[in-house]
This record gives sequence, structure tokens and C-alpha cells, in this order.
Amino acid sequence: MTAVPDLIDLLSRRPGALVSGTELANALGLTRAAVHKRVAKLRSQGFRIDGASRRGYSWVGAADRLDPAGLRRGFVRDVRLFDALPSTQDEAKTRALSGAPEGTLIVADRQTAGRGRLGKPWVSPPGGLWYSIVMRPPVGPAAVPALILVAALEWARALESRGVPARLKWPNDLWVDGRKVAGLLTEMSAEMDRVHWAVLGVGLNVANEPPAGVDVPAAALKEWLGNRVTRQELLSSWIDRFSASYRRYCAAGFAPFRRAYDERSWLRGRAVRYQTPTGTATGRAGGVDAVGRLSVETPRGSVAVAAGDVSLLRLNSR
Ligand code: BTN
Repeated sequence: MTAVPDLIDLLSRRPGALVSGTELANALGLTRAAVHKRVAKLRSQGFRIDGASRRGYSWVGAADRLDPAGLRRGFVRDVRLFDALPSTQDEAKTRALSGAPEGTLIVADRQTAGRGRLGKPWVSPPGGLWYSIVMRPPVGPAAVPALILVAALEWARALESRGVPARLKWPNDLWVDGRKVAGLLTEMSAEMDRVHWAVLGVGLNVANEPPAGVDVPAAALKEWLGNRVTRQELLSSWIDRFSASYRRYCAAGFAPFRRAYDERSWLRGRAVRYQTPTGTATGRAGGVDAVGRLSVETPRGSVAVAAGDVSLLRLNSR
């Protein structure tokens, strides 16, 4: 995703420094009065910004502080919070390699080099939820891709319980009303029959400006939730849900989640393009199978897609 600077980016790059209204106005192509208005709006969303238009503004903090003690719940036993990291995913992987236990949670208020799938950059300004968790599932490597489906499903349920009509776009996205609000990523180290570690990374647009000019339309949860729900509440409720589902997945695999996943599928019944070993092909998406592969109906029969990107043929088909 391409970085588009906004007021939050400009201020939070230099936390504590006084940035003049004129400098911000020039960088954003706005008048100073318009900058002042935007600062007022950010403050009303809970962002902590000191200063006034004559003196300049300085960044104090993201919209809501996370409390590590409150996030130590379910299977999460060690919580590391950072104001900024290049990538929580890289931090978690480094820790996993040096023996960090399952349930090590790394969260950053912003990432300077966030990564998405397929090597794409992931824009991660303050206000969003950017985290990675070290996992050591007692399963073979072939079962790990389904873990991301379970994690995404629990996000869909957590949002649904707050009235947000979240849908699952196989394999790793959460969409609401035709726009992407979250992406998930897993990386692992394994032998043929044993996983040493898997790191699950989640990026959720919450109170941040959703990235513009990216490959798919994006949105942030504030559009549906306003500032009623904090990142702490969202993440805690996901940890509770996912901890229970993770236990179930370790015992019984993906099969018990299949129906719930299909019920919330964004792709099911729609025309899609998927990757093949030799290029791309098109078909109509069906449900997921007992190991989490997406079935696609094609003129030559049903195909089980195990990996790769699947995109809607018509982005605006709802
Ligand atoms: C995607 O949709 O492509 C997956 C995006 C995953 C982004 C998250 S944000 C937290 C973690 N750290 C990263 O660098 N990436 C993941």
C-alpha cells in the first residue's frame, strides 16, 4: 500500500516536537485555518495533540493508550508495547527465533516499515491496531494457513457483536461494505511434520485515516464505530474469542469453523480471479473445505485453491 502523508503522519513522525501550522499547511496543501480544523477533529477523536495555531502543534500520543496488563488474558502471556517499530511482525519473528513463548504479543502504535502479504508495504499510522503474536501450534505446517482463517473469523465475530457487518475475504482480509478494513499475515518456521513457530500479524484500521490510492478500497472502523470503542476493547475481545478458538483448532483443525466462515464469506457466489501455477484463472467462489481451501467452480469443474491472492472480478460487486 502506498504511503499518503496526512496530518497524523506529519505530526507523529516527530513526537514532542513543535511543528508550525505554516509547515503543516504547506506540506498538506491547506490553509492554516484548515489545519487548525483538522487538529480539532483529531482531538475530538481522542488523539492527544498539544499547542495552538500560532505556536505550532506537537504530537503527544495516539487516540487511546493500550494497557498491557489488560491484554494479558487467554493465551496471551507476555505483552510488549512500542510507540513505534519498523514492523511488529519482524520484532515477533526475532523473538520467536530466540525462544519467545507462545502467546508473546507485540503491539506498536505505528509501524515505519509495516509489511503486507506478497511483499506489499502496509501503511500503519497511529490510531490503528498493528500487532503480531508468537504461536507454537502443535500441528503440521500444512495446517497453519487455516490458522489465519480462524483469526480472521474471530475478528469478524468481534466486529459483528458491535454492529459492524464485517465479511471475510479469503484468505486474509476483513471487508466491510465493499472496503478492506483489516489484513492478516502468518509466517512460520517448520520441519515436515512440526511447526517451530508461527507468527500471526494483524493490521486493523481503527481511528487512523485509511490508506488512499492503494490496490483495493480501504476503510477504517471509525466510520461504523465513531470513537465509541477503544483499541484496548477491540483487541481484548479478539484475544478472548481467539484463545478459545485456538484451543479448538489445535484439537480438531479447521473443520469446526467451516460453516461460520462460509456464513461470513465476502467472496462466496461471486466471480473471482485466482492464481494457478501457470498464471491466473477465473471462476465462481464457493465455500471453504475442511482444511480451509477455497473452492472455485470453473467450466472444467471445481478447483480447491490453497494459496495466493483471490480477487473479485468486479470490485464494486456487492
Ligand atoms: C495484508 O493484508 O496484506 C496483511 C497485512 C498485515 C499487516 C500487519 S500490521 C501488524 C503486522 N506487522 C507487519 O509488518 N505486518 C502485519
